[in-house]
Amino acid sequence: MTDVPVITVDGPSGSGKGTVSQQLAVSLGWHYLDSGAIYRALAYAAKQAGLKLNKDKEKIVSLALALKLVFKPTADGGADVLLAGTDISSSIRTEECGAMASKLAADGDIRAALLQRQRGFRQPPGLVADGRDMGTVVFPDATHKFFLTASAQIRAERRYKQLKDKGINDSIPRLFTVISKRDARDAGRTNSPMTPAADAIVLDTSEMSLEQVIGYVRQQVGYQSL
Ligand code: C5P
Repeated sequence: MTDVPVITVDGPSGSGKGTVSQQLAVSLGWHYLDSGAIYRALAYAAKQAGLKLNKDKEKIVSLALALKLVFKPTADGGADVLLAGTDISSSIRTEECGAMASKLAADGDIRAALLQRQRGFRQPPGLVADGRDMGTVVFPDATHKFFLTASAQIRAERRYKQLKDKGINDSIPRLFTVISKRDARDAGRTNSPMTPAADAIVLDTSEMSLEQVIGYVRQQVGYQSL
């Protein structure tokens, strides 16, 4: 499937990569991969099964390989996340689930177990993939690579609004702390650390509106008319 084009959008939480990727995928009529949701779903399933990383690592790897995960596309370009038929879309969005996902995601064997699943999303006519290592590890031959950043304060504020829209109540200072901790873990790990690919365009979105970011990305990709 290497002739199927891929656009990767990596970056820390709250950088806007999810919304930008979704909207880009809708404009292009391409598939969309929210790779973070896979890590979150695994963390959720591991917790449900009472598995702990420090003592059940092999079981978590087996769970990762066998995870009955389905993404059901929604009208806004996103997807409902179904685990063995149960909709877990909201349950996996909490920062607690994000932190658990980040701990599992630091393990090389767990990442390896999820690799082919992610590459399987590369289907015609194309794929927009968002995550931390889309441009560096999962789709190193992507057509276009972006790495979106924003200040930690702005990212915490965006996350707060995002969660509120999903009916989850949190506070900006608390989100600032947990997000900063999660990003430090994601950037500092040995296996597939969150870092821009050498050929990625790095964009600081702190002072940009969503429309401006999408406009910029479209321009770079060469689909301005969409
Ligand atoms: O993107 P999201 O915040 O949903 O991702 C949750 C966690 O999953 C991240 O903090 C990161 O640890 C992990 N992840 C990853 N590689 C990806 C996507 C997500 O390690 N490609």
